This record gives sequence, structure tokens and C-alpha cells, in this order.
Amino acid sequence: MTHDKIPLACVIGSPVAHSLSPRVHGHWLARYGISGYYVPIELSREHLESAIRFLPQLGFRGANVTLPFKEAVLAFADVITDRAALIGAANTLSFLKDGRVRADNTDGYGFIANIRQAVPDWQVRTAPTMVLGAGGASRAVISSLLNEGAPEIWLVNRTRTRAEMLREHFGARVHVVDWSAAPRSLGDVGTLVNTTSLGMTGQPELHFPLDAIKSGTLVTDIIYTPLETPLLRNAAAKGCQVVDGLGMLLHQAVPGFDAWFQKRPTVDDALRQAVLAK
Ligand code: ATR
Repeated sequence: MTHDKIPLACVIGSPVAHSLSPRVHGHWLARYGISGYYVPIELSREHLESAIRFLPQLGFRGANVTLPFKEAVLAFADVITDRAALIGAANTLSFLKDGRVRADNTDGYGFIANIRQAVPDWQVRTAPTMVLGAGGASRAVISSLLNEGAPEIWLVNRTRTRAEMLREHFGARVHVVDWSAAPRSLGDVGTLVNTTSLGMTGQPELHFPLDAIKSGTLVTDIIYTPLETPLLRNAAAKGCQVVDGLGMLLHQAVPGFDAWFQKRPTVDDALRQAVLAK
């Protein structure tokens, strides 16, 4: 007699205790009545590959990968999606029937899906987008904006050489703008995105004057602690459309849940409340 194993998935990181992913997936498992489990697993780098290779035999359908392993998993993944290759990092692994590990990156998808859900008539093709920051998160954001047809990305970073590296990588639609000059150009952008850690609880403030920004500009922050960052508060006061960063975290989880548990889950207020609950 054959029987299906209970479907399992996990998030792998170090540290991993702070991850909100178990809440997200736990909420969906309960809501859809799926008898599966999603657990956090803390690992050291030396065990990363051997542990991941063994997971399918334990009944795991896949895994999320978080800091500091998002780049490292690409070194041994058997199948790498185009978007993961372009971003240079993976956050979602699926185990194929033959045991091979498929690495995908859904951060850019989550970034776009969050904006589209909050502002369905968002126009990304009609004006430049300004992106603050040139780290790992910025790579996912830039690649997804280009994929959506953004005509120009104005990339602003404290360390200009890091922005220039991304320009090299992503091509001529990316233009590097000096941090000091960028606020004056805000009147010409349709979308402003913060991907730096500035403004996060416990981090320094983001000093970025919005005097030149037009009302109606879409402003979003990938930070979600606090939910309303000073950038978003200032933007709202200027009449901008603001989108907080929690939705990106929720939406990036959708493709993984769908692949592992065979159900496309919905991002809604009940999920937000479950994730935000103390
Ligand atoms: P992540 O993978 O989360 O994007 P990261 O790769 O460490 O993290 O990138 C952090 C981003 O925040 C970078 O753009 C960084 O600017 P630098 O490239 O100049 O380091 C930006 N950042 C962090 N602290 C900053 C600060 N105090 N002032 C300006 N930018 C800062």
C-alpha cells in the first residue's frame, strides 16, 4: 500500500527565529485545511548543502532560504530559474520528483504583486523609477521593475561604485544618480522605492527630502518594521500613494506555497493581522 507523506516545508537561515515566514505559511495551512507543516530550521554553512539534499527524503517539498544563504544555495542548486540567476540569489527552493533542487527567486515577484494589489492602476512604464540602495534587495527590485517595462531606473546609493556595478549588470536602462543630487530630480519620477536599511527600527534615519516630489507619485519601502516608515509618512503628507513593505514579504511567499502545497493562497487583511499579531 502506498501513502502520501505529510507535506512539509521550511525556512532555512541563520539566525532564523525572527523569520515571519512560519506565520505566513502556518496561517495559509490552517485556512485551507491542509495537513502539512512549515518550520524554521537554523543551519551552519557547512551543513547547508547536505541538509538540503536530505530534506526530500524527510517529506519536504521545498524550502525558503533567508540570510545569509540566499547566494550560497545557487552554488549547488541543480536547476536555477532565470530570475534567480539574474538576481544572483534564491529565496525559494522546490524539490523535484527525482530529488533535484530547483532554486527560484520570488522577491521581485512579491515586490510587484504588492504594489499591484495596493494600487491596481500603478503605471510603471510612463516615468522613471528612483531606487534607493544597491544591495541584495535592490537587485530583486530592479530586475522586477525592468521586467515590468520600467523605461528608466535612477539608482541612488551611498557607495556609488556599488550602484555602478548594478548598472553594469542590468544594462543601459539603469542610470546612477548621486545621493546628493537625487532629491532635486524627484519631480520627474513616477515611483520611488527605498531598498536601504535606513528607517528600519534600530537603524539610522533615512534623510531624503521630498520637497520636489509630485503628489500622486507612488512611494514604497521594503522595510516593514515599522510598518509606516518616516519615508512613507512624509510621502503620505505630500499626497503620494504609499505602499508599505509587509505586502512584499507576504506576496513573495505565494509561489512557494502554491508549489509545495498545491494551492494558490490569497494575500488579504486576515493574513496581515495574523503576521502582525504579537
Ligand atoms: P540588503 O541585502 O538587505 O539589500 P545590503 O546588501 O547590506 O542589504 O544593502 C544595504 C543597502 O543599504 C545598501 O544600499 C547600503 O548602502 P552602501 O552600498 O553604501 O553600503 C544601504 N545603507 C546601509 N546603511 C546605510 C547608511 N547609513 N547610509 C546610507 N546607505 C546605507
